[in-house]
Formats: sequence, C-alpha cells, structure tokens
Amino acid sequence: MFIKSFFTFFVFLSCLLSFTCASHGVRRFEVDQKDKFQNCQLSFKDCGSKSGSLKSATYNGTCNSGIAVLKRGTIVSIDFSFISNQVEDTLKSIVHGKISDLPFVPFPLDNPDACKDSGLTCPIKNGVQLDYLPVLNVLSTYPSVNVIVKWELQNKAGDDVFCALIPATITS
Ligand SMILES: *[C@@H]1O[C@H](CO)[C@@H](O)[C@H](O)[C@H]1NC(C)=O
Repeated sequence: MFIKSFFTFFVFLSCLLSFTCASHGVRRFEVDQKDKFQNCQLSFKDCGSKSGSLKSATYNGTCNSGIAVLKRGTIVSIDFSFISNQVEDTLKSIVHGKISDLPFVPFPLDNPDACKDSGLTCPIKNGVQLDYLPVLNVLSTYPSVNVIVKWELQNKAGDDVFCALIPATITS
C-alpha cells in the first residue's frame, strides 16, 4: 500500500515537473505545416464548451485507436477544427493534464495566445469552421504514463469556446 502511494506520488511529481518544464520548449508554429498532417483523428469528449464547439482534433504524430501517442523528444501539433458562435478578438488556451485518479494539473503553454502564430487570424468570425494549430514539445524528461489532456480555448470573458478531454499516452 505504501509502495503504491509512493509510486503514484512520484509519477505525479515527475509529471508536474515535466509539464512545467515543457512550457519552455514549445516552438513557433508555421502555418504551412498544416498540409503535412497525417490523418490521425483524436477521440475527445466535450467538457463544457459554451460559446462554440470543437468539430475535430487531428494530430500530426501517431495515434492508437484515437489515442494520441506522444513520443518523447518530438515536437507535435494538433489541428483543432472548431466553430465559434461569436466574433472573438482575444483567445487563449488553458491546458491541464490528469494522471489516473489524481486531480488535473496545469500545463502552462509557452504560447497560450491562440491569436498568435497558431493559424488563426483574430478577430475570428462566428459560424465558420476554423483551424487552431498549437504546437507542443514532448520533452524527453516526460514519464511514460497515460494522461487525460483537458484543452480549453477561452474568450475574453473567460468562457470556453471549446473544452475537450483528450486521452493521450506518453511513450519513449
Ligand atoms: C508536427 O508539427 C510540428 C510543428 O509544425 C513539426 O515540428 C513536426 O515535425 C511535425 N511532425 C510530423 C511527424 O510531421
């Protein structure tokens, strides 16, 4: 019992550290990378989208039955295809990660500004499908764990244009 709790705590701690460190490695996005996406549709669950909806999440790495396989030491990009019900001039991403039964831990992005270097031109239009393409650096220090990623795209008022829970697995 003690060993198990200790192990869980260790995994939690190393993830917390990796997530914090990860924010320093996020690279600038190049819009023309979008064409290079493999057809890896990620499964996701809505977690309270308020002023829009997520239509699809496509990932340019490999996936296993809709689960994103995050290979350590690689740079990956997700194509979030979404619709906003409102015109928005400010959009930011808030990302959390969750391992087993532990609470969600913040995963600060280096570039949380979705209006900057991520494929969107702000103000964004309402009622049309748009592609938001953030880039993530999967650090080699990440532990090999299954993680639920909670991705929120928020407007100026703090409402979620979309909120999605995306299962992922980190591998070597
Ligand atoms: C995925 O996109 C990122 C960011 O543009 C790029 O650095 C990476 O090489 C791409 N990966 C693949 C497998 O195309």
